[in-house]
Amino acid sequence: MPADSAIIRIRDVEKRYVLGGEADVLALRGVNLDVEAGSYLAIMGPSGSGKSTMLNILGCLDRPTAGRYFLGGEDVSRMPDDQLSEARGLKIGFIFQSYNLIAQLTVLENIQVPLLYQGKDVRTHLESCLELAKLVGLGDRLHHRPSQLSGGQQQRVAVARSLVNNPLMILADEPTGNLDSKTGQEVLDLIDRLNEAGKTIVLVTHDDRVASRADRVIHMKDGLIDREVVNRPMRARPAVSSS
Ligand SMILES: Nc1ncnc2c1ncn2[C@@H]1O[C@H](COP(=O)(O)OP(=O)(O)OP(=O)(O)O)[C@@H](O)[C@H]1O
Ligand SMILES: [Mg+2]
Repeated sequence: MPADSAIIRIRDVEKRYVLGGEADVLALRGVNLDVEAGSYLAIMGPSGSGKSTMLNILGCLDRPTAGRYFLGGEDVSRMPDDQLSEARGLKIGFIFQSYNLIAQLTVLENIQVPLLYQGKDVRTHLESCLELAKLVGLGDRLHHRPSQLSGGQQQRVAVARSLVNNPLMILADEPTGNLDSKTGQEVLDLIDRLNEAGKTIVLVTHDDRVASRADRVIHMKDGLIDREVVNRPMRARPAVSSS
């Protein structure tokens, strides 16, 4: 595979959910996609078209049943499970529609969770976690629990958590789906700032206004990329390392 600036390169990717014979679902039917490092991509398309399936594969939460996936030049489609989860933890941050915070943990502890998965020492990284809490505007809510926060605040905790291992890219599945439009915009502004700082963003949305923030929008239909819209040329951005 040639060295280039694509952080994501997928070729002829299929995903078959095996339920048995006729019931099998071919959720992705040979998708090809390149995503440039530092760019901002939105994925749109009707319900059931394969958006979440695609995002799960891009995020190494799931594997293609056929085809290849190169993440940062490395073929992850055939990587053993333990290596795959290590690559995921180091290179990718996730933001979900339903925040997926741990109810029993405080804001600070939730931000620290991905460190634990990487076997990192929480105390060594305390300063950077406090910085992240400040970055998302929750420096004064460190010891609150998720139930004591608004939806927008919870999603901002999730944004901080997605950043804690300094990933190369952030994947977000309907990150504003549960938020009112003003709160949603605040979260999207935060995501814009991460992109301006060099993070690659891939975001699934049903909302044209959300997608308009991306450099490029792909529309999926029946497990394939049906069409693509370029909103703007990718801005020149500083490179960000994963260290
Ligand atoms: N775990 C699974 N087992 C079997 N089929 C699945 C599974 N997950 C998804 N599917 C099927 O794969 C297809 C694509 O689903 P996917 O969740 O990727 O759609 P989506 O575009 O994200 O839809 P939505 O906008 O509703 O979230 C659908 O037909 C769905 O029923
Ligand atoms: Mg979905």
